[in-house]
Amino acid sequence: MPVVKVADDVGDMMSLLEVNGRYFPILRTLHHQEEELRNMTSWTARSDDVLICAYPKSGTHWVWEIVKMLLGQKAVRIPSMKESAMLECSSGLALQNMSSPRVLNTHMLFSDIPKDFVVKKCKMIYVLRNPKDVAVSFYNHHVRLLDYEYSGSWRSYLGRFLYGKVDYGSWFDYVLHWEKSMKAFADLPFHTLTYESLHKCPEHEIKSLAEFLGVSCSSDLSHDISAQCSFRVMKKEKDPLEDITEWKDGEPGMYRKGHVGDWRNWFTVAQNEMFTAVYEQKMAESGITPVYTLHEYQST
Ligand code: A3P
Repeated sequence: MPVVKVADDVGDMMSLLEVNGRYFPILRTLHHQEEELRNMTSWTARSDDVLICAYPKSGTHWVWEIVKMLLGQKAVRIPSMKESAMLECSSGLALQNMSSPRVLNTHMLFSDIPKDFVVKKCKMIYVLRNPKDVAVSFYNHHVRLLDYEYSGSWRSYLGRFLYGKVDYGSWFDYVLHWEKSMKAFADLPFHTLTYESLHKCPEHEIKSLAEFLGVSCSSDLSHDISAQCSFRVMKKEKDPLEDITEWKDGEPGMYRKGHVGDWRNWFTVAQNEMFTAVYEQKMAESGITPVYTLHEYQST
């Protein structure tokens, strides 16, 4: 497998898989990972597939649970791992064996998703989270998941994040790519939601998702789904099939804090200024306005 050790400015290394010029996490549980990634473009979609698309750490697990409950019309968690329904973490065969409707997810760029999802006009849900909280969440993910063999400091990590020396590359390239693709393929069924809006108005967002999916959603159902998918409940129940040996000290870290604005506890003033400067330069042409605190959300 083409495993690479990606260094940052201070020489800290992160182990990643490099395929077709893109970085991926190394998955010891997936046999033939490189081959699966290379073959993925030819995978077939089903017209009732739903595909959740997000840069890592943007709330994919949360939205995945909500969508499964909406399609099942029940606020009950069915034990399964989001990763088993993730394009790049699963084998083509395992996905073929899933029953319909499949709720799939991916961190891949739109251009790297199997073409059949576009041909069959599958519904795609795009989840966006403010990049400062994504950076903090991704840092904790990288230091806690053993396969990355990464133990750098937060101080040096921010540069790594800003310049995309992580799996799936740069947040900026990812969101700019998706923004452009959704404009170019405006005839496809896309639904965008943000991590922050899901925090602020969960029931409203759940109803909007139901409308997009074409399923009914009473006020009781949106209320119950919101409660069952709250951070507190999801953290308590964890992912029942999760392999805890993948995590440092056997402590799974997928449900870490679940806040909007945790970045304030991590960014120094200088880091914040540097981040803002990079953001303004890279996102000059973008129509996206990230929400960095819930207070700010009220005034938008
Ligand atoms: P933090 O590390 O900031 O806590 P993903 O699912 O895309 O990997 O995103 C993971 C992030 O979403 C983590 O953020 C995780 O705690 C948060 N998260 C997961 N489930 C959540 C929920 N039900 N409510 C709020 N945040 C949730």
